[in-house]
Amino acid sequence: MADAYTRFVRSAPGALIAKRTGLPRPARLLRREDRPEPVLGPVVVLGDSAGADQVARLLLSWGADVRRRFEELPRVGSVIAVLDEVSAPDQLGPILLPLSGAMRSLAPGARVVTISRPATGEDPSRDAARGAVEGFVRSLAHEMRGGATANGILAADGVALDAPAVIGALRFFLSSRSAFVTGQFLEVASEAGTLTEDQQQPLAGRTALVTGAARGIGAAIARTLAADGAQLVVLDVPAAGTELARLANELRAVPLQLDVTSGGAGRRLVQFLREKSLTLDVVVLNAGITRDKMFANMTPDRWDPVIAVNITSQLSLMEALLEAGDALGDQPRVVSLASTSGIAGNRGQTNYAASKAGVMAFVDALSLRLADAGGTANAVAPGFIETEMTARMPALNREIARRVNSLQQGGLPADVAEAISFLSSAEAGGIQGQTLRVCGQNIVGR
Ligand code: NAI
Repeated sequence: MADAYTRFVRSAPGALIAKRTGLPRPARLLRREDRPEPVLGPVVVLGDSAGADQVARLLLSWGADVRRRFEELPRVGSVIAVLDEVSAPDQLGPILLPLSGAMRSLAPGARVVTISRPATGEDPSRDAARGAVEGFVRSLAHEMRGGATANGILAADGVALDAPAVIGALRFFLSSRSAFVTGQFLEVASEAGTLTEDQQQPLAGRTALVTGAARGIGAAIARTLAADGAQLVVLDVPAAGTELARLANELRAVPLQLDVTSGGAGRRLVQFLREKSLTLDVVVLNAGITRDKMFANMTPDRWDPVIAVNITSQLSLMEALLEAGDALGDQPRVVSLASTSGIAGNRGQTNYAASKAGVMAFVDALSLRLADAGGTANAVAPGFIETEMTARMPALNREIARRVNSLQQGGLPADVAEAISFLSSAEAGGIQGQTLRVCGQNIVGR
């Protein structure tokens, strides 16, 4: 449900006032229930490389209405700019500028996705062109209207554009699952991963653990992963036992009451999995708390629990799962909850931002440990999400925090869950140690 301000500016008198005074008018974002089709057509594929032809053929095989130029189309659903072969900045204009004339024809909820390669430090001209793509996408995303988004895929040199994670990332960015993701890049480092046949149930046959699942973002993650076909183990503190049991009943999930900071929590989890004969294919480390205070007034009773829940517990749970030898399945996927506070820092949140920046460094290191087994570890950094945690913020701070992003609204827990579901999929095998922001392109941080 939209917040009070958004409901007001969507009413007839509110819309008139907002238009006259230049107040933000957040668009209604189309999510999976509003826009089930995987690609909004027509799709225009820009670029003339062999990779661009390959992407156009891929889209055709999905049944999309694919064009190679705008041809005065009255309405454009998606644009994919394939820039994999650019080697100098002056090669960008001829590929990208045709989109300029089509900007006003973009449909509500349209998608622009670039596919390019990351800079490598080997060739100044080529790196300049590759780096320029990032600046272009991040600025374009600020200019998009009507809930449209712009994101980019960076396929490492040597990674074919039909590698599973390139296709998976393209599917994610084009779909309504990425409604609150804009101005972001996903880097595909390898051709690891397996293409998912069943897009309705991409996690079918997989078992997933979600910590902190009793409410908020954790409950949304559990619901989305279950809807995508996963069998769930839902974990939360004993004090949240009633809510946890209710969720477990709803999802036919296995509940586990456990404080992740308690001594031996990892050992108890492993024992529980053995008793239930379960191995985990997906681990979502979501349990998290805030204890905000200016650093001048910071005390151990505010610092220590935040570090313990948000990062130390993740280290010890993963250590126990890895050491057990039989707790994780093949090609495991670990997704951890970071925060935009951990990227940009936030007044009053030194403890929280430290823990979340720790999470981002942790998944990077963990991904190296999991790589041999075809596993991945990544993080998702939500911006302002409408939950009980943010409902407790002072009203004015909350209202400002909600608006300072390109989509001019808070995200929903389901938006975070969608990104986690994608990173948990077999397709995402080539995405390693990254942090994907789900923040509507919050103006803080990169
Ligand atoms: P929430 O407070 O609504 O839910 C957190 C859940 O974690 C609760 O069910 C709680 O009982 C559980 N939990 C806390 N300590 C635990 C422990 N020691 N052992 C087991 N479970 C424990 O929080 P929300 O908003 O759903 O946040 C979820 C995650 O997303 C957190 O990691 C948070 O830092 C992160 N996040 C949230 C944002 C937001 O805007 N709400 C923004 C950025 C990150």
